Amino acid sequence: MEGSIVGVPKLGPVIAIDGPAGTGKSTATRRLADRLGFIHVDTGALYRAVAYLVLEQLKDSSMGDERSLAIQLASSVHLEFRRNPDKNPANRIFANGEDLTDHIRTPEVTMTSSRVSSIPEVRAALVGLQRRLGCHGRSILEGRDIGTVIFPDADVKFFLNASVDERAKRRLIELEAVGSDAPSFEEVKAQIMERDRVDSTRAVAPLKKAQDAIELDTSQMTLDQVVDTMEKWVMERLS
Ligand code: DC
Repeated sequence: MEGSIVGVPKLGPVIAIDGPAGTGKSTATRRLADRLGFIHVDTGALYRAVAYLVLEQLKDSSMGDERSLAIQLASSVHLEFRRNPDKNPANRIFANGEDLTDHIRTPEVTMTSSRVSSIPEVRAALVGLQRRLGCHGRSILEGRDIGTVIFPDADVKFFLNASVDERAKRRLIELEAVGSDAPSFEEVKAQIMERDRVDSTRAVAPLKKAQDAIELDTSQMTLDQVVDTMEKWVMERLS
């Protein structure tokens, strides 16, 4: 046993990767996890799953408001990740046994997840699950507050950042690739800035760099360079 956080033992190395959207964080984390043979925990998918369920319930009935539904759902839903190598992505998020992976990346779910994740009771309901998912070690958790709140004693912490323009450019390319009715660059940039504002000004666990995190500005870096740099740091810190 290498340490313990609030009652959850940490049984092996844990890597925390935080930062705003559009920094290449998810793809870089996935690749780093594959190279190291670590499990990848995409904590944003948990907030997105709750947001999706809230939106579904609001569609089905006019009962309840977003906030109270989110609190009730976050504390009662059973969330889990399952791997399915035949699907893309292979790492699937299930809520009460239903695979929600293909529904949680819409712009509506994205904006709702940002609001829902600013509710202290929702965050509190998901803390234990995130710690349990990571505590077995050889795990990389990706999110906004992993190095500051979820695993403050993570073995290696990264904070990925990039300029707003670069992040908007990358997001637009992603949207065009999936063939959705792509919004304009200015619209995408405005959405990113709004999400940054909500994520970094919320009262509980705002997006911020942990003091001991390694900061990488990925604006001028290729994905391979980001993964190579992180791998070097991990090797150095864990050796
Ligand atoms: O990383 P993402 O875009 O999938 O995250 C979706 C939302 O969830 C994002 O607006 C911020 C929030 N989030 C969070 O507050 N804390 C985390 N650890 C992960 C995500």
